[in-house]
Amino acid sequence: MRKILIFDTTLRDGEQVPGAKLGLRQKLEVARQLKNLNVDYIEAGFSASSVGDFNAVKAIAETVGTEDGPIITALARAVKSDIDAVYNSVKYAAKPLIHIVLGASDVHVSKKFGKSKEEILQMGVDAVKYAKSLLPDVQYSTEDASRADFEYLWKTIEAVVKAGATIINIPDTVGYAVPEQFGELVAKINYRLKNLNPNVILSVHCHNDTGLATANTLAAVKNGADKVECTINGIGERAGNAALEEIVMGIKCRADYYDAYTDIVTTEIKKTSRLVSNLMGLDVQVNKAIVGDNAFAHSSGIHQDGLLKSRDVYEIIRPQDVGVEDMEIVLTARSGKHALKNAIKELGIIIDDEEVMKKVHEKFLELADIKKEVYYHDLYELLKREGLIDYGNENGNGFTPYEIVTFQVISNDIFPTATVKMKRGDQIFTQSANGDGPIDALYSAIKNVVNMDLKLLEYKVNSVSQGKEALGKANVRLAYEGKVYSARAMDTDIIKASALAYINGINKILLENNGNNNGDH
Ligand code: KIV
Ligand code: ZN
Repeated sequence: MRKILIFDTTLRDGEQVPGAKLGLRQKLEVARQLKNLNVDYIEAGFSASSVGDFNAVKAIAETVGTEDGPIITALARAVKSDIDAVYNSVKYAAKPLIHIVLGASDVHVSKKFGKSKEEILQMGVDAVKYAKSLLPDVQYSTEDASRADFEYLWKTIEAVVKAGATIINIPDTVGYAVPEQFGELVAKINYRLKNLNPNVILSVHCHNDTGLATANTLAAVKNGADKVECTINGIGERAGNAALEEIVMGIKCRADYYDAYTDIVTTEIKKTSRLVSNLMGLDVQVNKAIVGDNAFAHSSGIHQDGLLKSRDVYEIIRPQDVGVEDMEIVLTARSGKHALKNAIKELGIIIDDEEVMKKVHEKFLELADIKKEVYYHDLYELLKREGLIDYGNENGNGFTPYEIVTFQVISNDIFPTATVKMKRGDQIFTQSANGDGPIDALYSAIKNVVNMDLKLLEYKVNSVSQGKEALGKANVRLAYEGKVYSARAMDTDIIKASALAYINGINKILLENNGNNNGDH
């Protein structure tokens, strides 16, 4: 099996997304996490673009570019000043690399540079020779290669390899390529390159303008590419780059087909995705492969039934393999009896009587038609109404959910405060708190009620149903335990949806801990 090298450019191409610019500390945080993910290369920025970028690349080279860490690089145009800036910022890394980019297609040569092909080729050769005088490892990117004239592209590659380039990168800069054709291009270059110098690494860099970035990258892998460039969550210029998580899991899932592997620690994928999304303020599409909120959520009855019989019926990747705690079964009007029975069992209640189950299912469908998504506390209430649960949990597993009775939130820019009244069984609790903002205050008040050592990892609220309803999402865990509990809730009130999502997360923890919140109630 061939090892495929993973080159992450989240901090360079990804950071080109409007509004996604990060500060030095945030870039360092991302770079450290990329090291945990075990990427082979980090492209840390574009050193010549600003002092801030230069300093960030330097800081990453110094702290993350250790002997056991990734190769650190940054981007330079084929000009001396850019190459100097890259050298002076990456040289602190144990394994530094200079990355040079220069147009290779006719449109770039004539329209962007207004020069002849020969002049551009010479510019590339001179740039590589200069970079080689500074560092042994130099990557050359033939920008817009997928639209270039093949013989000129090859002439360029041959010349820059002879000048000392150690990596040749073939970018599909504008997302023009299609998998079969791009695969053929890579195969052709690979054949000639391995004859010219077998030590030179062949790399690809694909953009997603027609949604084919991952497909093109994987076609390149199949046709001999040794290294792939990608970003976390597929962020990047315009429609973005090939997504690291998709390429890595694509290769892992179909190692039989690609006959290849990567060294990525896949269990760090979700954490990295969340970090990048939170720091850059770029939401991940809910149905995004591997890292979207719904990537492991099953809502149709047919699928839920199949999964509960055997996971491999509808699951080709284990959620745990990418750092997602578990698949999520979302109870909706489409959920069948099997999924409902399973959720009830999780509440510690076994219904053996088919007639009772039929009635519960009918009631559940009535509720699901009104509520869209049914959560544990809804189910709990339903079972209670049907006389299947007594307070005191004689026939439960010790789980009694917290419910919200009423709340008040005061939002202002001096002292946001919240008061919440909640109940658990027949006990009533009231707490107030202040915070950095209204949600922070509300969550603190809820935390005071439940008296649990909780850590909120992620919180989101989106409008759904044409803006009439809000979908709140919260990821929580106990401060002393690693397991993350993801919860969601819908309401027409944005603040209430947020509160309910948090409480649903808390109830999930309680459910798994037999109702024990380690507190005094
Ligand atoms: O899209 C592109 O061509 C690039 C190069 C710098 C590799 O980002
Ligand atoms: Zn790019």
